[in-house]
Amino acid sequence: MRYLEGAFAPVTEEITAFDLPVTGRIPAELNGRYLRNGPNALGVEDPAVHIWGMGQGMVHGVRLREGRAEWYRNRFVRTPGFAPMVNVIEHARRTFALAEGGLPPAELDDDLNTVGPCALGGTADGFTAGAHSKHDPRTGELHSLSYMVGVELVQHIVTDAGGQVVRTTSIPMTRTPFMHDFALTENHMVVWDTPLGFDGFDCRWLPGHPTRVGVMPRTGGRVRWQEIGPVHVSHTLNAYDDGDTVVVDLVTAQGPFDPADPGAIRPVLDRWTIGPDRVHQRRIDDRPQDFPRVNEARLTRPYRYGYSAATALYGIPFAPEGPPPDDAFVNALVKHDLERGTAEVHAFGRDEAAGEAVFAATGEGEDEGFLLTYVHNPSRGAGDLVILSAQDFTGEPVARVHLPGRVPLGLHGNWLPDH
Ligand SMILES: [Fe+2]
Repeated sequence: MRYLEGAFAPVTEEITAFDLPVTGRIPAELNGRYLRNGPNALGVEDPAVHIWGMGQGMVHGVRLREGRAEWYRNRFVRTPGFAPMVNVIEHARRTFALAEGGLPPAELDDDLNTVGPCALGGTADGFTAGAHSKHDPRTGELHSLSYMVGVELVQHIVTDAGGQVVRTTSIPMTRTPFMHDFALTENHMVVWDTPLGFDGFDCRWLPGHPTRVGVMPRTGGRVRWQEIGPVHVSHTLNAYDDGDTVVVDLVTAQGPFDPADPGAIRPVLDRWTIGPDRVHQRRIDDRPQDFPRVNEARLTRPYRYGYSAATALYGIPFAPEGPPPDDAFVNALVKHDLERGTAEVHAFGRDEAAGEAVFAATGEGEDEGFLLTYVHNPSRGAGDLVILSAQDFTGEPVARVHLPGRVPLGLHGNWLPDH
């Protein structure tokens, strides 16, 4: 029920607005579209059993050009049945809404209208690009990890910069795992097989199932599995090779994870250092947070800065029950300095629910750029696109673009710069 209320409440109308009002100054270097996808539940038959994550995909987008906010659009992803609602990316100069579990992506046009379902990353076995497909910044390849409900294998799919599938590696499993995300380094794929998996079409936590961490050469080959204690893994921040180890920074939580109530866990930021014989687990930050993002130019390689969204209060995705553990962490974004082991917090006000923040680079420096995210503006009862300077993270936003309607808390998005 709570995932239909407050900051999660769905919107029903598709809106188009031009030349949006702005407080502050939109950086003139930001030319492109900020798009974000998420479930938008309509026609819920029984709110008591509604599961967050069910619902039609809806993409909210703002187009920035030369210091102006040219338009805002929100559009349903219009495909038969469930619509891709987890992520939205650009590949080969086309825009795709992404799903998982065997549901193909949908292509969108520049104005967010649905072109139709499409086989991005499609393989002979019927797999397509999964929700957390990642670009290798050096090659422009798109790496996907894909699972299909009812199928006891997963696939690593490499799609070249032109959109052609160039390599497929099948990884045998003993059931359909819930493999929502994975990690990519310059030389390796890292996957995890946790207790969360499918029993028929039911996604559930299987007590007694360990978590296995698998490392595979990116070019294909055997997966080297190692067992660790049962743990839920939410999202990857970044990963890189370091000698004979692979370092993965990721959001984990102690299980059991109940897909019907994702707020019942406490997600934290960890570093796994995966050696030939053991997986060393270290806590980076034990404050509840998720939706970790990095400057995507640093994906797959050593890096310093990561960004995440606090999840400390009811009303924020994956929020634990009970009182917030730290007032400063409510409705907040975090900038991690992993070199120094420090973090800065940008706190928003009460009811200013903030979702995943995406880094938009404007220079070569790792934190030379801006964070973009939708933040609810309670005084207007509508959403703002908030733009923060990554180098002045705790300072006032450089701009707030005032949108004509609410933007419910959702899932993942990206900054799609002009070419
Ligand atoms: Fe995700």
